Amino acid sequence: MSTPQLSVQPYKGTRDFYPEDMRLRNWFFGKIRQVLECASFDEYNGPMLESLDIYAAKSGVELASEQTYNFTDRGGRQLAIRPEMTPTVARMVAGRVNALSYPLRWFSIPNFYRYERPQRGRLREFWQVNADIFGCDSYEADFEIISVAIKLLRVFGADETMFKVHINNRRFFNDVIAAVTGKDAEGAKAVSKVVDRKGKVPREAYVKDMYTLGLDDEKIAKIDALYTMSIAEATALCPESRGSAELSELFAALAECGLDKYCVFDFGIIRGLDYYTGTVFEVFDEAPENNRAMFGGGRYDNLVGLFVHNTAISGVGFGFGDVTLENFLNIHGLVPASLLSYKVKLLITRFNDVSFTEYEKLSDELVLSGIPAMCYLGTKKFGKQIDYAVASGCTHIVIMGGSELESGMVKVKDLATREETEVARAELVNYFNAL
Ligand code: HAM
Repeated sequence: MSTPQLSVQPYKGTRDFYPEDMRLRNWFFGKIRQVLECASFDEYNGPMLESLDIYAAKSGVELASEQTYNFTDRGGRQLAIRPEMTPTVARMVAGRVNALSYPLRWFSIPNFYRYERPQRGRLREFWQVNADIFGCDSYEADFEIISVAIKLLRVFGADETMFKVHINNRRFFNDVIAAVTGKDAEGAKAVSKVVDRKGKVPREAYVKDMYTLGLDDEKIAKIDALYTMSIAEATALCPESRGSAELSELFAALAECGLDKYCVFDFGIIRGLDYYTGTVFEVFDEAPENNRAMFGGGRYDNLVGLFVHNTAISGVGFGFGDVTLENFLNIHGLVPASLLSYKVKLLITRFNDVSFTEYEKLSDELVLSGIPAMCYLGTKKFGKQIDYAVASGCTHIVIMGGSELESGMVKVKDLATREETEVARAELVNYFNAL
């Protein structure tokens, strides 16, 4: 009986990254890493596996119960493959809570798994840039994190016609719902949960849930009106709310710095994760075909305290996924034609009158001096070796037959200009370094 042929497809919702895919990913994450380091964020990372409890505590039912890949290990521990980074980073901050200096600026670019229905912009495995600031309670950190999010798109050449940051505030949201419905904090929370699902369920189901909570058509209409109000109109409905003040301060600072052209107030942004307490935001591509959020983030006041009780270190940050970013860059033509990062890459071609080890010695010298090089492996004719050099993205070939080996003078051919230059073998490193 023959062995059945195995599938070449990766697991549903995951991707193979062939070299050209890796080049693209390394290119955009490289630019992002550069901006974040330049903005004084330090990189960290954590484990792929975490105790399931850390998501159950605050991430919300959808993520913790329905989307997390979890299992029991051989020691009987309930584990999850990380679906997000925020609980991990809060745990890590808690682990050194007294040794760190605040405001702390950290970033990471890990991969996550979520059991979601794969669709455009959403997969089961994805990478996500996380940037967070811990230990600053004022709107200044919210401003800073939104300004960093905007920089991460501007660095690719994106402008305000291509994306918008949609901003709201959880505290304001709860307070304005209480103000227009006349409910107390508990009652307003129940209404907020229904309002959160407004865009995701049919209108009749939404209205029915509102009736169940005791709201009449007039109050439902008042809530509908919030979606088209300006910040000034909306915050005037609950002027005493700390959330109103935070929203107003944040938008005033964005306007003063000329960043308001990238931002809109959006009452529909609430965010599914339970831990957010203040400012919340999502970044959307203005192109309708990339309609899923590219970034999601906000302020969470109580996560670090889950790991060290009686500690109040607040955080604010965002997650920015690779899937929607790639769609964004392609739709707006922001990927350069060539992603090759090699200024110089050499193929040392082979001739029968020189031994394999002589070529290996030369490639060893070059590679250890930082010049990207390889010697051809095999016995194909010179023309075929050149074809291989071109297909492998080499910029030059080095020609060293028996006579060149003896004279110590090798030939270098530029594959773009076809020009050939004689260079002393001992000078090769200097020659390529000077290009
Ligand atoms: P999130 O809204 O769940 O937030 O995800 C943030 C971003 O990650 C999304 O806007 C999207 O770009 C990407 N993303 C999420 N799920 C998927 C998926 N299934 N496939 C592809 N991309 C996806 C969080 O994860 C928060 N922990 C972010 C955060 C950091 N908040 C504060 N700090």
